[in-house]
Amino acid sequence: MYKAYVFDAYGTLFDVHSAVSRHFELVGENPARVSEVWRNKQLEYTWVRTTMNQYKDFWELTSQALDFALAATPGSNLDCKKVLMDAYLSLDCYSEVPSVLKKLKEDGYKTAILSNGSPKMLASAVEHAGLSDLLDDQFSIDDIQIFKADPATYGMVTDAYDIQPNEIAFQSSNRWDIAGATAYGFSCHWINRTNQPDEYVDLKPQKTISDLNGLIA
Ligand code: LAC
Repeated sequence: MYKAYVFDAYGTLFDVHSAVSRHFELVGENPARVSEVWRNKQLEYTWVRTTMNQYKDFWELTSQALDFALAATPGSNLDCKKVLMDAYLSLDCYSEVPSVLKKLKEDGYKTAILSNGSPKMLASAVEHAGLSDLLDDQFSIDDIQIFKADPATYGMVTDAYDIQPNEIAFQSSNRWDIAGATAYGFSCHWINRTNQPDEYVDLKPQKTISDLNGLIA
């Protein structure tokens, strides 16, 4: 029996591509490519920075990743940076998120975010999406300055709630995050929104679902 439902933020609750899609006409010739490189570089920087023990917060890495994505994608408008960074503070949440969180809360579960995002980024995104009353806690790895998938990041939640890892249902659309959380002992649901093939096959989620509605079905 779970005691808490804990969610990754970016890609799981919030659509990271909604920043570029909102402003695609401004971005240049290949907005989809910019958005993809932006996300991939943002994540790469978290892993490399953790390996090097050279922490910079997620806002700074998101900014550096966008610089790279715009520079690396031919035909990009370099002047769109501020608009896109601002949009990252008010990303769209996926349509089912409010109703699923509401149902989990009605059923008596604790609900929380565990994210690489800085506290400021998370607070802004949560507020813009109208999720403030539906989440008990927003755990940011900024408190320990180590990015996922280090075990210490998942340990933030078990320490705070004083419960066993397997009492936490952890949801992420990032398969590498699911691998890390599974290794730590969380009960994991992989939110495979885009029908990706499986990977990290020795660290399997308990269940794979296509969106968060699968949690309450
Ligand atoms: C997060 C990134 C990994 O929210 O999506 O932690």
